[in-house]
Amino acid sequence: MAQVFQNSEIILTEMSEGSLRLMGETIKHNNMCSRVKTENLNWGEDAGKMYKFREMKLDFIIGSDIIYIEQAFQLLAETILQLSSQDTKTIIANADHGNLSKFEEFIRSGPYSQKLLLQEIGKEWQHELFQADDIKIYLIQPI
Ligand SMILES: C[S@@+](CC[C@H](N)C(=O)[O-])C[C@H]1O[C@@H](n2cnc3c(N)ncnc32)[C@H](O)[C@@H]1O
Repeated sequence: MAQVFQNSEIILTEMSEGSLRLMGETIKHNNMCSRVKTENLNWGEDAGKMYKFREMKLDFIIGSDIIYIEQAFQLLAETILQLSSQDTKTIIANADHGNLSKFEEFIRSGPYSQKLLLQEIGKEWQHELFQADDIKIYLIQPI
């Protein structure tokens, strides 16, 4: 994303300190320190930080392989909702660890059904080299 959107500001978030350190090294290695930052974020837990991010009017929230623990569905959905302005697009690419359909149902029929719209991005929109049968890509937007 940083390469494609040359004027963008990017924040990589994680709850794991070890992962944050590795992200920092990767950013340095790619000479991206001026535009790419890291920040500790535990889904749903830091209201002040959520508020700060939301105020930045994020264009995209990108997640990779973050849907796997059913107990975290609510925290993840709440975080997406809190970080989203009206135009924010959340894109999540995820391997199916067995509960993607439960996540779809949680968003579409659960407590977020009137707040978030979840759509699957069809294979016809995905680059043929970078798609796989067991990986789904979702677009989630606030309603
Ligand atoms: C399967 S890993 C995927 C890591 C990386 N995005 C990737 O694609 O390689 C899932 C990630 O979700 C993060 N995660 C899980 N629960 C979280 C939470 N409650 N708050 C913040 N991050 C969380 C974990 O720290 C972990 O790094």
